[in-house]
Amino acid sequence: ASGLNAAAKVAGKLYFGSATDNSELTDNAYVTILDNKNEFGQITPANSMKWDATEPERGTFTFNSGDQIANLAKSNGQLLRGHNCVWYNQLPSWVTSTSWSKSDLLSVVQTHCSTIVSHYKGQVWDVINEPFNDDGTYRTDVFYTVTGTDYISTALQAARTADPNAKLYINDYNIESTGAKATSMMNLVKSLKSAGVPLDGVGLQCHFIVGEVPTSLQSIMQQFTALGVEVAITELDIRMTLPETQALLTQQQKDYQSVVAACMAVEGCVGITVWDYTDKYSWVPSTFSGQGDACPWDSNLQKKPAYNGIMAAL
Ligand code: XIL
Repeated sequence: ASGLNAAAKVAGKLYFGSATDNSELTDNAYVTILDNKNEFGQITPANSMKWDATEPERGTFTFNSGDQIANLAKSNGQLLRGHNCVWYNQLPSWVTSTSWSKSDLLSVVQTHCSTIVSHYKGQVWDVINEPFNDDGTYRTDVFYTVTGTDYISTALQAARTADPNAKLYINDYNIESTGAKATSMMNLVKSLKSAGVPLDGVGLQCHFIVGEVPTSLQSIMQQFTALGVEVAITELDIRMTLPETQALLTQQQKDYQSVVAACMAVEGCVGITVWDYTDKYSWVPSTFSGQGDACPWDSNLQKKPAYNGIMAAL
């Protein structure tokens, strides 16, 4: 099969996808590749379904930007991953600056999740994003500080009620290798499952560094699926310290191949999403100083060796 998504489907996965953002959709050359369902069968909005974008004032929901991405995916016949319902980041100030009672904040979480999940029905949702610190403790954001872990079950239950057909995920980074954070995520999955809280999957973001792809990735995914959830690679990119060299590009190709091969080897790994397909629009350079060139297409929209690495694993 030609194209990443076409090859992924032949290999038994549901999709190969990409994140995108509204500001990129005026770039026709970019959109032509994004629209190509042989390359991408799934789209994640990088920003426009986040809390600050969807409920900037309490009870006032704005769906224009999210709808633009949802409509693009729909017209291309691509799956849409809702991203995200509850996250500590990109929150409007009305959420962070109020001193909430527990019941009021749970009601705010419930309303937010049920409204956005019912607006984008029949989709996959990152209901909870990044609940843990790297040491495996819970992030002491407004949600955890006020409600403990109750916000997690409230959000998942609200999402399930709003759309019984949606796949509900918890998504995080640095859970791709053995350690305290992965263990905490496994313990959370176990406790939600035993409490009967709806949860379908765990998203492994996979924001990696060239030469440092965790060797335990496949085993970790198997350990998650053994708990009765599916997994997905939700935000893959593999960054390097600039400037780019031929050696780094070759290592990056191997690294992409080994990440995709790990998903291939795990039956419950349903698909792979890159956190935008091109270096032109990657979030990496503005977030990790001195680093970049993390994507399978370069900033001129040309395929890199990384592309061949992905293909080789599919
Ligand atoms: C990033 C976006 O790509 C950026 O445009 C934005 O400025 C910050 O957020 N983990 C996540 C994503 O779950 O939502 C983040 O997206 C990248 C890290």
